Amino acid sequence: MSKSDKIYVAGHRGMVGSAIVSVLQNQGFENIITRTHSDLDLTNQQQVEKFFSQEKPNEVYLAAAKVGGIFANVTYPADFIYQNLMIEANVIHAAFKSGVKKLLFLGSSCIYPKFADQPIREDALLTGLLEPTNEPYAIAKIAGIKLCESYNRQYGKSHGIDYRSVMPTNLYGPGDNYHPKNSHVIPALIRRFHEAKINNEKKVIIWGSGKPKREFIYVDDMALASVHVMSLDIEIYEQNTNEMCSHINVGMGEELSIGELARTIKRVIGYDGEIEFDSSKPDGSPRKLLDNSKLKNLGWTPIVQLEEGLTLTYKSYLHGL
Ligand SMILES: NC(=O)c1ccc[n+]([C@@H]2O[C@H](COP(=O)([O-])OP(=O)(O)OC[C@H]3O[C@@H](n4cnc5c(N)ncnc54)[C@H](OP(=O)(O)O)[C@@H]3O)[C@@H](O)[C@H]2O)c1
Repeated sequence: MSKSDKIYVAGHRGMVGSAIVSVLQNQGFENIITRTHSDLDLTNQQQVEKFFSQEKPNEVYLAAAKVGGIFANVTYPADFIYQNLMIEANVIHAAFKSGVKKLLFLGSSCIYPKFADQPIREDALLTGLLEPTNEPYAIAKIAGIKLCESYNRQYGKSHGIDYRSVMPTNLYGPGDNYHPKNSHVIPALIRRFHEAKINNEKKVIIWGSGKPKREFIYVDDMALASVHVMSLDIEIYEQNTNEMCSHINVGMGEELSIGELARTIKRVIGYDGEIEFDSSKPDGSPRKLLDNSKLKNLGWTPIVQLEEGLTLTYKSYLHGL
C-alpha cells in the first residue's frame, strides 16, 4: 500500500467507515475518496459502475451496508437481504471491472451458525443453521465473503486480484445509531440509562435474564484492524487463510454478561436507580464469542478496554444531543 494510493471508503459517514477514514488519514494516506449515500446509491448498478470507471480507485474498504439490531432485522428482512446483496455485488464487481486490486469487505459475526462451538473459529462458517432473526442479513454477508473468494479464485492470478474479508464482533463507539427501536444493545442501553437519569426514574427494565454473554469491540480498534489486515503481505494473508475460508475474525477475545454490561453502562452514565431484568423476554444465544487468535497471530491486538470505550462513546452521545 502506497501513501498516495487512491482509496475509496464506502460508507464513510457510518460508524466504522468514518473511523477507517480517520485511521487512514492518521497513517498518512492522502488520497481518500468518498461519496454520500445521496450522491451514490450503492444498490444502483449503473451509478456504481459509472463511479468506479470514472474514479478508478486502487483500493476499496466496503463499510457501507444496511445495519440494525434484532427489531430492525425482524421487521425489515427484505431490505436487509436485498440492499446488502446489491451493495456487495455492485461494488465488488465494479471494483473488479475498473481494475481495483485490493478490497476489504466488512462482514459480521452473525454469519456463524447459531450453535457454533465457542469461541467461534473462522472455519465454523457454513457448518450449521443460522440464527433465524437475522438470517437474511447473515446470508447477504456470507455472499459478500464468497464474492471476494470467487473473484480471487477466478481472477487472482490473471488480474492480481486480492479481495479480503473481516468479520467483526459487536461494535460500539462514537457515531453509533441511537434509534429507540432499531439500535444495537450498547447504544440502546446508553440511551435508556441516560433518559432514566435525566428523568429521575427509579429503575431501568432490561429485556431478558441479563445472563447471556456477549463480546464488544470499540470502533477505532475495528478500524485499526481493518487497515492492518489490508496492509498484510499477500503471502502472509494466504498462509493464514485458505481460498474457500478467507475471512478473519475481529474481536476482543473477552466476553461479559448483559447484566455486567448494563451495570458498567449505569456506572459510566452515573445513574443511581435500580436495574431490573425481565426474564419473561427472550435471551437469544447464551454465548457469542469470536476466536480472535488468527488476527492476534498476524500481529494485531485491540487497545481500548470496555469501560474506557463506553466513556468515550457516552461523551460523544452527549455531544450529539
Ligand atoms: N455496528 C455493528 O455492531 C456491526 C457489527 C458487525 C459488523 N458490522 C458491519 O460493519 C460495517 C459498517 O457498519 P456501521 O456500524 O458503520 O454501519 P452504519 O453506521 O449504519 O454505516 C453504514 C453506512 O453505509 C451507508 N449506506 C447504507 N446503504 C447505502 C447505499 N445503498 N448506498 C450508499 N451508502 C449506503 C450508510 O449511509 P446512510 O446512513 O446515509 O444510509 C452509512 O453511512 C457494515 O458492513 C456492518 O454490517 C457492524
